[in-house]
Amino acid sequence: MVCLGNICRSPLAEGILKSKTEHLDVIVDSAGTAAYHIGSQPDIRSIEIANKYGIDLRNQRARQFSRADFDEFDIIYAMDTNNFAHLTSLAENQNERNKIRMILNEIKSESFDSVPDPYYGGDNGFQNVYEMLNKVCEIITQNLEKR
Ligand code: 4NP
Repeated sequence: MVCLGNICRSPLAEGILKSKTEHLDVIVDSAGTAAYHIGSQPDIRSIEIANKYGIDLRNQRARQFSRADFDEFDIIYAMDTNNFAHLTSLAENQNERNKIRMILNEIKSESFDSVPDPYYGGDNGFQNVYEMLNKVCEIITQNLEKR
């Protein structure tokens, strides 16, 4: 799960998908394309919205996406088109590029819709992001169950 800062959207995506896939043999992690918040806990607003749904993000710490992640992970979900473009620029071959997906394309393929960045908005942005991510993570889980 990849966003810009790894403190708002992708930690929430990580927490939600982990909570849905406990019965599956998958590794879920998150990272940011930017370095600003390395080592930080998720934004308090992400922690609080997750907590409302019984998901604990407090042990997460922000990290920056690294090229090693192309080896570690089979699917790399970008939250928005900027993250997607950044990840694509880091990929060095077609195998790596093929791993990068827009997360909301799992709801509507090829839509290239973005999960809006809630950082500068109010709390309602976080509720909206939670609902989007909860819906798409349910679909991702169903697809993982079919593997
Ligand atoms: P995120 O949100 O990419 O969902 O973690 C942001 C967090 C921090 C900043 C921007 C977006 N920032 O500019 O510091």
